Amino acid sequence: MCGIIGSIGHKKVVNDVLIHGLKRLEYRGYDSAGLAVLTTDGLKVVKRKGKVTELEGDQTTQKIDGNIGIAHTRWATHGEPNEINSHPHTDCAGKIAVVHNGIIENFYALKMMLVNEGHKFKSETDTEVLAHLVEKFYKDDLEEAVTRSLKLVEGAFGIAVIREGEDRIVVARRGSPIILGVGHKKMYVASDAPAVLAHTKKVIYLNDNEIASLYEDSYTIKDLKGKKVVNDIHEIKWSLEEIEKGGFEHFMLKEMHEQPDAIANALRGRISGEKVKLTVRFKSKNIKRIVIVACGTSWHAGLIGRYILEKMTGIPVSVEYASEFRYRDPIVDSRTLVIAISQSGETADTLAAVLEAKRKGAKTLGIINTVGSTISREVDSGVFLHAGPEIGVASTKAFSCQVTTLVLLAIHICQDLDKSVSPDIAQSLVKLPGLIREVIADRKKIQSISKKYQKYTDFLYLGRGINFPVALEGALKLKEISYIHAEGYPAGEMKHGPIAMIDPNLPSVFITPDDDSYEKTLSNMQEIKARQGKIIAITSIEDEKLTKLADDVILVPNVPAEISPIINNIPLQFLAYYIATAKGINVDQPRNLAKSVTVE
Ligand code: F6R
Repeated sequence: MCGIIGSIGHKKVVNDVLIHGLKRLEYRGYDSAGLAVLTTDGLKVVKRKGKVTELEGDQTTQKIDGNIGIAHTRWATHGEPNEINSHPHTDCAGKIAVVHNGIIENFYALKMMLVNEGHKFKSETDTEVLAHLVEKFYKDDLEEAVTRSLKLVEGAFGIAVIREGEDRIVVARRGSPIILGVGHKKMYVASDAPAVLAHTKKVIYLNDNEIASLYEDSYTIKDLKGKKVVNDIHEIKWSLEEIEKGGFEHFMLKEMHEQPDAIANALRGRISGEKVKLTVRFKSKNIKRIVIVACGTSWHAGLIGRYILEKMTGIPVSVEYASEFRYRDPIVDSRTLVIAISQSGETADTLAAVLEAKRKGAKTLGIINTVGSTISREVDSGVFLHAGPEIGVASTKAFSCQVTTLVLLAIHICQDLDKSVSPDIAQSLVKLPGLIREVIADRKKIQSISKKYQKYTDFLYLGRGINFPVALEGALKLKEISYIHAEGYPAGEMKHGPIAMIDPNLPSVFITPDDDSYEKTLSNMQEIKARQGKIIAITSIEDEKLTKLADDVILVPNVPAEISPIINNIPLQFLAYYIATAKGINVDQPRNLAKSVTVE
């Protein structure tokens, strides 16, 4: 949430690094964008409401330049998304500029203190207190002033600060990700890797409560107590092509098409015949209970994981919203395995849930996509998805890989416990990329179905058992990118309330796999049909009973129940995509959303 990019050493920092980097980070927020540069005439700041192109196209932006600059793309927390509230924020004298991700929780008290001391505030943001605090403490050393400021701050921050007369960028973090990029006589700071990938693949992950000074050809890192620390330099594995749209109209569409390869990558080296090999640091025989913590789409993957893990391993599993788990004094102990699922590895609630679980002595395991992310570094062990960068705000390929990985994990635990596993499951996993290609090849049909439904304002998504979470995920995808109201329900629960809404204006999307629940789901369809409700059915059965009931049928390949949610979800992604794009919505940047929710 919110993106930071900064650099020192480039002759033309604005166009070479800042604008380019902001565009790469727009998925993290697109309410406004701004930059600050140290020029020969002192500190210059430009901010614009809206997307980065507004900032780029502005004449003032194009007139300023220098070789030290910081920039920010904002997802509004405190204060409406206007120019004044945009970052960077400056001090009273206009010599210090700060960009910030996170939330300063005690900002009001700090602001009152600073106002009483005579500081003049321009914005409604929490961030501006940082600029004034640094001004208050500055004598002749920016790093020292930032350190003193941060000692007063409660909350989360990833910050970059520049000041007139200081040939460096000072950066620090607590709770919000910050990476340093190491170039040749150039250094970078960013909230995440895509922003620096065009310049360097060498990055350093800053840890909580660390502060760094970046100079043209060197850097220092200390903890906030002033002790020097040495952090390793890592090589980013992602390529530039992976973070480009590659000819697709949207990142979301590209990422949906990437699912076969992403799943193949998630399986690579981990499955051979029926055997699964994962490197995890817990002994399955010591695990008496599993708790999955996650948010949003990752939480839906967790719900599917519960069905898979319980059925296959016999270990009881509960799935919790990370935002609830972290605050309710959960009962976990050393025999509990807490699995955190997160694409970004930076979601604040999921991170806090992991820390809470660790504090209580639970074993923690991450199912994470982003290598080097905070959660991946906090958990005891992890299984990376290897799905490649997911830039579209709506999660697609990460979900497919999360469920795939949960199936691998279930097989791994069964092997450990000497429990038998149907060989069909491993075989189907290996075939999955090819099967998903078949579903994607049918997208034109889904597109033509979507045309019939794009004018509806409400949808119901219904599924049973392991496919109930798919209904939830289908509904979430539709609402977040098309702004159409949609609800996911267990099909059997429909008659306990939601059926009251059924009429010809409320279509229902049924997930109807060929499993034990098939006949029961057909009964639910009949109940909808009797009330003139329209029905779209996703199914693997060519059955007359179903085709008579459903207005539209999308056929998918038949796979074992454990794998079916991955297959069944693909048409729902396309349905949501085509309905949203027909409404003219930029699905990569839906309103009010941002990727990587690093605030509570
Ligand atoms: C929905 C979506 C979000 C994320 C959620 C968790 O399409 O992308 O619901 O799934 O914010 O994010 P991660 O997985 O990064 O922890």
